[in-house]
Formats: sequence, C-alpha cells, structure tokens
Amino acid sequence: MEGNQVMVLDHPLIQHKLTLIRDKGTGPKEFRELIEEVALLMAYEVTRDLRLEDVEVETPVGPARCRTIAGKKLAVVPILRAGLGMVDGILKLIPTAKVGHIGIYRDPVTLKAVDYYCKLPEDIEERVIILVDPMLATGVSAAAAIDFLKEKGAGNIKLVCLIAAPEGLEVITENHPDVEIYVAAIDHCLNEHAYIVPGLGDAGDRLYGTK
Ligand code: URA
Repeated sequence: MEGNQVMVLDHPLIQHKLTLIRDKGTGPKEFRELIEEVALLMAYEVTRDLRLEDVEVETPVGPARCRTIAGKKLAVVPILRAGLGMVDGILKLIPTAKVGHIGIYRDPVTLKAVDYYCKLPEDIEERVIILVDPMLATGVSAAAAIDFLKEKGAGNIKLVCLIAAPEGLEVITENHPDVEIYVAAIDHCLNEHAYIVPGLGDAGDRLYGTK
C-alpha cells in the first residue's frame, strides 16, 4: 500500500456504534440511524485538514478576529445504493456540501464495472469529493467510481467507508494512490460471495430492509 494514506478512525464513539451496526440483531431503523451517526463522526475527522482563513465578526461585546473555512468546496458522492445511508450524517456537519450520485454494477459477462447512473455537481473539479460507501469489499466499484470522477475532472477525492477488506484496500491503493482512505475498521478477508468477514452483512439490505 504505497502512496495512499489509510486512516483507521478509532474514536471510541465510532467503534462503539460500529459494534452495534455489526450486530445482526440490530434492525433497519436503528441500523440506519447508527450509520448516519457514524458517518457524521467520520466526516469530522475527514475534514480535519480543511484550510481556514481569518475573518472579523462583531460579537455583542466587540470585534473578534476569528477563523472560517477557506476556499475549497465539498461534494459528497454516495455509491448507490448503500452509500446513500451515509449522506445525511455528513450533511448534518457540512450542510452546504453538494451531493452527487454514482450507480455502478458489475457486468456479469465481462465482469467489468459499468456506471448506470451518474449525476454530479457541475463544478466537480473545484470540489473536495467525499466518496462514500459503507463497505469496501473487492474495491471494484469504488475504483470504478474514482476512475469515473477523475474522468469528470475531480482532483481531490477522499474515500470514506465503514469497513474495508484488505483486498479492497489493495485495489484502491494500487490504482489510485492519490486517494486518501478513511475507514472505521479493516476486517479479515472476503468470503466466496465477496462479503466482508466478519463485516456486517449486506449493508444495502440492512439499511432498507430488503432481505
Ligand atoms: N457489500 C456489502 O454490503 N457487504 C459486504 O460484506 C460486501 C459488500
């Protein structure tokens, strides 16, 4: 894994909530709420390096020299469908961020990733992109989404996932060494169905109660 920074966010609140998320007894309502909360907490860390600039405001007592976020604008881009579960938590912290959407499936014949839906903010090249997907399993969808974002001009992409498999991390670090990766946990491996072990099961199904 050269080039990329892989950040494991081990804040106690993130780890505690991730444990509840993993538990198969956690139903869709609580699962959705917890994913949103963890995404919010992760966004706090992901935005740690945003640049600040000085401004002056008038408090009720007098002028105060303060700091405000400078320059770069943000976009949150979920990979459909499970990535949607992370968007609202991030928007609670960064309400002015734009939201793009990318839908990707793997062609059963060619096994290549195909994008079936894409709607991005027009000025994507000027924004820091927070690309979100709860599970970084094989890394194929995330790598394809990053390829796609780069084709559209995105230059500053941060990938944020709850749980990563070593296999997925390797795919991203090899293909996109410029992309910072933030995860709450790195699990053992993938099983024969490309599920992360122990993981949390199918994130989309658990979010939306489809199984
Ligand atoms: N997608 C999921 O939702 N879960 C996994 O374990 C792997 C991919």
